Amino acid sequence: MNPNTPVRLAVFASGEGSNLRNIYQRIHDGELKNVELALVVSNNSRSGALEVARAADIPSRHLSTRTHVDLAKAMLDVLAEFRVNLIVLAGYMKLLPNEVVEAYAGRILNIHPALLPEFGGAEMYGLRVHEAVLAAHRKVSGATVHLVTSNFDEGPIVMQQTCEVRDDDTAQSLQDRVQKVEYDLYPKAIAKVAVNMIERGSGTTTL
Ligand code: GRF
Repeated sequence: MNPNTPVRLAVFASGEGSNLRNIYQRIHDGELKNVELALVVSNNSRSGALEVARAADIPSRHLSTRTHVDLAKAMLDVLAEFRVNLIVLAGYMKLLPNEVVEAYAGRILNIHPALLPEFGGAEMYGLRVHEAVLAAHRKVSGATVHLVTSNFDEGPIVMQQTCEVRDDDTAQSLQDRVQKVEYDLYPKAIAKVAVNMIERGSGTTTL
């Protein structure tokens, strides 16, 4: 990659899109440098993430197994069309097709609302994660950004950030605190990976 060329991000999201909104805002405010938001992909045509994209004029696509027989090809085609260097999963509730994981090996990030390797896996999403943390009587939780492999919540950890678990926490109050951590952590982790990609000049990342 050319050192003057920003890393082009595709954010994949299924739900509300608050991490997407935060990443967009940080780029817009000049706090998150060396990247540009090239594309938003959602498997959910009614997702808040697609609304965020439309409101911010970011190109977006609804891609799902319901609308695309060959989802992997549809994803790879649109990623190529928008010259995407780095895929950022932000509340994307599906496993990426293997072809996409292989084509973008080392260049796909995910954020998980707990301190992996604990409290991860296919069943661990939404409030369930925080319920499990409370049931295990942990005093500390937080968020993890990791590289994506073909299994849920596995792959090398890029960055983690912690927050306290309070005695009177509910799953909802803990989720709210962890989400604030995510808004701080994800832009930092994206920046770290982007700088690494630019310095290596190869379009891949090593940690
Ligand atoms: C976040 O808590 C993230 O950790 C998890 O999904 C949630 C997405 O929320 N993977 P939002 O759609 O960004 O608001």
